[in-house]
Amino acid sequence: MPLPVQMTAVEISEPGGPGVLRAVERAVPLPSQGEVLIRVAYAGVNRPDALQRAGSYRAPLGASDLPGLECSGWIAAIGPGVSGWMVGDPVCALLPGGGYAEFATCPAAHLIKVPKWLPLKDAACLPETCFTVWSNVVMRGGLRAGERFLVHGGSSGIGTTAIQIARGLGARVFATAGSAEKCAACAELGATAINYREADFVEVLKAAGGADLILDMVGGSYIGRDLRALADDGRLVFIAFLEGPKADINFAQVMMRRLTVTGSTLRPQSDAAKAAIAREIRAHVWPMLQAGRLRVIHDSEFALTEAAAAHARMESSAHIGKIVLRVG
Ligand SMILES: NC(=O)c1ccc[n+]([C@@H]2O[C@H](COP(=O)([O-])OP(=O)(O)OC[C@H]3O[C@@H](n4cnc5c(N)ncnc54)[C@H](OP(=O)(O)O)[C@@H]3O)[C@@H](O)[C@H]2O)c1
Repeated sequence: MPLPVQMTAVEISEPGGPGVLRAVERAVPLPSQGEVLIRVAYAGVNRPDALQRAGSYRAPLGASDLPGLECSGWIAAIGPGVSGWMVGDPVCALLPGGGYAEFATCPAAHLIKVPKWLPLKDAACLPETCFTVWSNVVMRGGLRAGERFLVHGGSSGIGTTAIQIARGLGARVFATAGSAEKCAACAELGATAINYREADFVEVLKAAGGADLILDMVGGSYIGRDLRALADDGRLVFIAFLEGPKADINFAQVMMRRLTVTGSTLRPQSDAAKAAIAREIRAHVWPMLQAGRLRVIHDSEFALTEAAAAHARMESSAHIGKIVLRVG
């Protein structure tokens, strides 16, 4: 099938609220060296998309200005220097941007083949969360079987993935969330759920012996409390600062209790670093999916042209799990 010249995409017309997302016609992008062109079936919606739209998270140099960090679909064209893929292959991909569109380009090394047993809607929701969770919880945080793991925002896209992957690795999992319904969702996935409006996660974790690893997306007032909730030799990994990046902390405990504080963001990392994470996902996370130990928790589905409503849903924080855009 010949490629169209034009496609529908959703762009950020100016920094602002969900209403600044606008459906437009754009030229279909061409794959460069080492890239493929994907005909997008579904695009996952992530909190960083909302931050980009609001003007507080810039696309890295060279990335599409369109939002969208993950998608599923079919390979529509193959760029120079790419081998091992064929037009029509079903894939999902971590994107540097550009997923809110009918076509998106992506380095071939960041593709993951979608097996027959995995619906494309599920596949679109996996790359951003799986790459983030695996690289921060396992590769950076070093989570091992038998350890106590705490994730904040347990009902989020990241949180629901982190709970299941940590359980799959044999960890004992704790998760914070802000309502009884969200706590029930975390508990159903195997976490000890802590409603942070009713209980102090520091006390819960201390009573259990302390957290060996914490994955935090909140920051702010949680920073000092995270350190207190850690067991000796514990590790704290930051992936976002929804409540702010600053805190007045006594760092003596980091030294006295041999704590490690680290963190990372996925998007600005090199293509080679993302390719290394992709290899680990294929080897370790895809088998968990196939075995049914990891599943996508779907919150809601919107058409591509309803991206503003999808962002409003995300920013309401009423959602549990993933929000997805239906594209093709
Ligand atoms: N570092 C990276 O590479 C990377 C990659 C992807 C995502 N992230 C970050 O990871 C976080 C989760 O992403 P996601 O796509 O899974 O988003 P999401 O589904 O919207 O999750 C955000 C969750 O954080 C909780 N939360 C706690 N304090 C909050 C506050 N002050 N403001 C807003 N929410 C708060 C909310 O649950 P409650 O109602 O229970 O509070 C909500 O479920 C985001 O902050 C995102 O920017 C980082």
